[in-house]
Amino acid sequence: MLSFLNETNTHMIPAQYKEMGQEELVRRASSLKEKLGERIFILGHHYQKDEVIQFADATGDSLQLAQVAAKQKDAEFIVFCGVHFMAETADILAGPHQKVILPDMRAGCSMADMANLNQTEQAWEKLEKIFGHTMLPLTYVNSTAEIKAFVGRHGGATVTSSNAKKMVEWAFSKKERLFFLPDQHLGRNTAYELGIPLDQMAVWDPINEQIEFGGNIQNVKVILWKGHCSVHENFTVSNVCNVREQYPDMNIIVHPECRREVVALSDYAGSTKYIIDMVTEAPPGSKWAIGTEMNLVKRLIKQHPDKEIISLNPYMCPCLTMNRIDLPHLLWALESLDKGEIHNEITVPKHVADDATLALQRMLLV
Ligand code: 13P
Ligand code: SF4
Repeated sequence: MLSFLNETNTHMIPAQYKEMGQEELVRRASSLKEKLGERIFILGHHYQKDEVIQFADATGDSLQLAQVAAKQKDAEFIVFCGVHFMAETADILAGPHQKVILPDMRAGCSMADMANLNQTEQAWEKLEKIFGHTMLPLTYVNSTAEIKAFVGRHGGATVTSSNAKKMVEWAFSKKERLFFLPDQHLGRNTAYELGIPLDQMAVWDPINEQIEFGGNIQNVKVILWKGHCSVHENFTVSNVCNVREQYPDMNIIVHPECRREVVALSDYAGSTKYIIDMVTEAPPGSKWAIGTEMNLVKRLIKQHPDKEIISLNPYMCPCLTMNRIDLPHLLWALESLDKGEIHNEITVPKHVADDATLALQRMLLV
């Protein structure tokens, strides 16, 4: 019989898993995965470590994982190797008979934590006083389910780095202005690429509850939430200049969560999938400096020994919260399921899930 322990009962891994050697961890995880068979489906984001990715049934960026989660209706358990907001999205899109497990509840996202519902409702109220009903909200999927629900309730949609351009165009087909949460850089880079000048973009500061803008406020087309990714903000203009100086024939490719100045100086910018595809399809001997998460860069280096690949920032670390999911946590999750124990289940309350679904479905349908 299963003993259900809900999300409020956040469980920590027993010490024995931390003490196991790599060989034993791999052996036990492999046999458990075989034993649990089709009862489980393991999803792994591209930023996960190799020791975890080797057990994933599907890997992908945020958009691909959301699409797989929406289609995968057979498995009883979706074990999500990624961060909390991704597991919430999987729970929203999964069937009612499916349970989503996050092997370590500490795997959060600092960007998603930069926008909470209270702050967003206050911002919306103040912004409506300035702009009336001319705004449509869009939220990066890197946001909590509550923010997705807010956006869904107000006619907006979610976006990922893979479809941001398409979604921003969609938003402008509906309303005159765009309110983009929580990553100012993805919002700014995408709107700029679509031809919106920087002097028509304002920033909403949720801490001081004020809009940051220098000119005539009625010229504003895009209001960007003052949030960022603490990993991608670590790529700087001086990183780009150093690479240009040391390796003049190197291609620089970055994720659009990087600052505008960094994206502007790079050769290419695009989502995680775009970066992977560009490097994979590049000719042997080509050279790449990559501005994205380090586990992914290390994997690309390993997979493409015929190309010269470095991180754009030589002192870059992996995303620390993504890295919370490791093989000991994955094994513990699998062994617990095998024993009929459910730890660290992600459950989004129905009233939140219903509104968040509106935002997610609008994205999946565009
Ligand atoms: P994508 O998977 O959409 O590229 O997002 C990158 C990221 O930061 C995930 O947390
Ligand atoms: Fe969040 Fe950035 Fe880590 Fe992605 S890479 S989970 S956006 S902190």
